[in-house]
Amino acid sequence: MDKKVIIDMHNIVKKYYEGQENELEILHGMDFKIYEGEFVSIVGESGSGKSTLMNIIGALDRPTSGEYILDGEDISSLNDKKLSEIRNQKIGFVFQSFCLIPRMSALRNVEVPLMYAGVSRSERKKRAKELLEMVGMAERMDHKSNELSGGQNQRVAIARAMANNPSIILADEPTGALDSKTGHLVMDIFHKLHKEQNKTIVLITHSKELAKETERIITISDGNVIDDRYSENGGGL
Ligand SMILES: Nc1ncnc2c1ncn2[C@@H]1O[C@H](COP(=O)(O)OP(=O)(O)OP(=O)(O)O)[C@@H](O)[C@H]1O
Ligand SMILES: [Mg+2]
Repeated sequence: MDKKVIIDMHNIVKKYYEGQENELEILHGMDFKIYEGEFVSIVGESGSGKSTLMNIIGALDRPTSGEYILDGEDISSLNDKKLSEIRNQKIGFVFQSFCLIPRMSALRNVEVPLMYAGVSRSERKKRAKELLEMVGMAERMDHKSNELSGGQNQRVAIARAMANNPSIILADEPTGALDSKTGHLVMDIFHKLHKEQNKTIVLITHSKELAKETERIITISDGNVIDDRYSENGGGL
């Protein structure tokens, strides 16, 4: 069976301060495809360009040159409004620092992307509750984000990322601020989403240990892909 390509990068270059004296080329022409339903990690040392690449994959930033086909659509040519629609519908973001609204309840935080998608108030609440149940946070749904622990906040953030049922979850160091036990809890949720809902998950991390849990490891160094392999244990735990 042919697998569907969901992320298709062709010769992606990213430069900062383009054309200026201090021009910096950070990504030097990256080429790779990610298939629907894959659980992939992108690993590399600090400063290797992981977050720069994540911003491009997530359509938060544009490459300086190269072509990026996201779910069959060439997004290089789209305007900002269309890009934000695509982000809202196709991609769920999870960040190291959670990026939740501190004085808002867990429930309301999960409702935010649904609000942007124009979902009615009653539907929003119902969906947000279901999502918080899925990540084991239903009992705490009325607690404000600043009253929750790091691990609890990250679970809320994953529920938020799933709000509009995106096909891709993009997570940048999602366990970076957590102790290892709590980090594993968060990884367990990703494994569950991968297995039970066939989500494409892209995990960005500097941890080789975490990467080993995924099906495929793309290693980057100094803005280049230097290794790309399917994991020996097939990502099974
Ligand atoms: N907005 C920017 N302007 C200029 N340079 C930048 C910008 N963003 C990132 N860089 C540079 O690009 C390089 C790669 O940064 P990036 O944040 O992608 O690394 P990373 O692999 O995510 O590192 P870490 O593991 O520490 O998060 C670094 O040298 C950084 O200084
Ligand atoms: Mg980074």
